[in-house]
Amino acid sequence: MEEHILVALEGPVQIIRINRPDKKNAITRAMYATMSEALASGDADASVRAHVFLGVPGAFSAGNDLTDFMAMAVGGEGGEEVWGFLEALAGATKPIISGVDGIAVGIGTTLNLHCDLTFATPRTKFHTPFTDLGLVPEAGSSLLVPHILGRQKAFAMLALGDPFSAEDALQAGLIYAVVEEGELEAEVMKAAKLVASKPPEALRIARDLMLGDRSALLARIRTEAEHFRDRLRSEEARAALMAFMSRKKG
Ligand code: COA
Repeated sequence: MEEHILVALEGPVQIIRINRPDKKNAITRAMYATMSEALASGDADASVRAHVFLGVPGAFSAGNDLTDFMAMAVGGEGGEEVWGFLEALAGATKPIISGVDGIAVGIGTTLNLHCDLTFATPRTKFHTPFTDLGLVPEAGSSLLVPHILGRQKAFAMLALGDPFSAEDALQAGLIYAVVEEGELEAEVMKAAKLVASKPPEALRIARDLMLGDRSALLARIRTEAEHFRDRLRSEEARAALMAFMSRKKG
């Protein structure tokens, strides 16, 4: 079976590629667990100086696997792999660079809030339809997005589920640069190698200073997760998930 998360080292850069093109890179619990392990092992390995997240052409990620959400909704399972990944991401000690092309839904958008540099292509659409699914923002986005976008654009993104184009995201300060599809991975790797070439101690301290005390962010991720778990069992969420499942059958 094709690996859905490919982890590779390119010199001092660890590349974590989401690789499930037939499902538009929807992320299952097993995939979250693999990504958490990669972040932890890269952080622990002194030869790794930066993490990179990539997807496949046209799909960074369609978000959490909705079949998994349905199982969590019906079976009452906690989905610890999801929350563990979000904590690993927010707590990572090395710089993270992402390259986003095309679909970026849910975690496909919010993952980038924890990156130090995000490159996106012109056809990228950032979309967080949490409330339409009867759910709530995750990954600390309820704290981070208002800080970046201000209250009203944050409301549009997280509560109304307005999509943001790459250009909108650039103007709003959500991402670092917009680059053509054919140049995305080369630009991401160029940036990652530049990051990796910096004196690592100075870079770590500079990054830590900019991120500040992460305890409030980690606490918010946990609070969001509590609401999220409750919401998954709600009638609103079940109806939205059923609608997606039956759309698949049609
Ligand atoms: N979970 C599980 N499967 C998903 C998925 C998800 N989040 N997103 C897409 N897929 C699957 C589809 O069911 C379909 O599977 P099938 O071929 O076995 O039927 C396959 O991926 C291709 O998706 P499709 O909808 O045909 O592609 P598209 O290009 O027309 O649309 C999206 C792409 C992302 C707009 C659409 O798939 C979508 O809305 N997905 C749900 C996104 C979402 O709500 N994520 C959760 C956010 S919290």
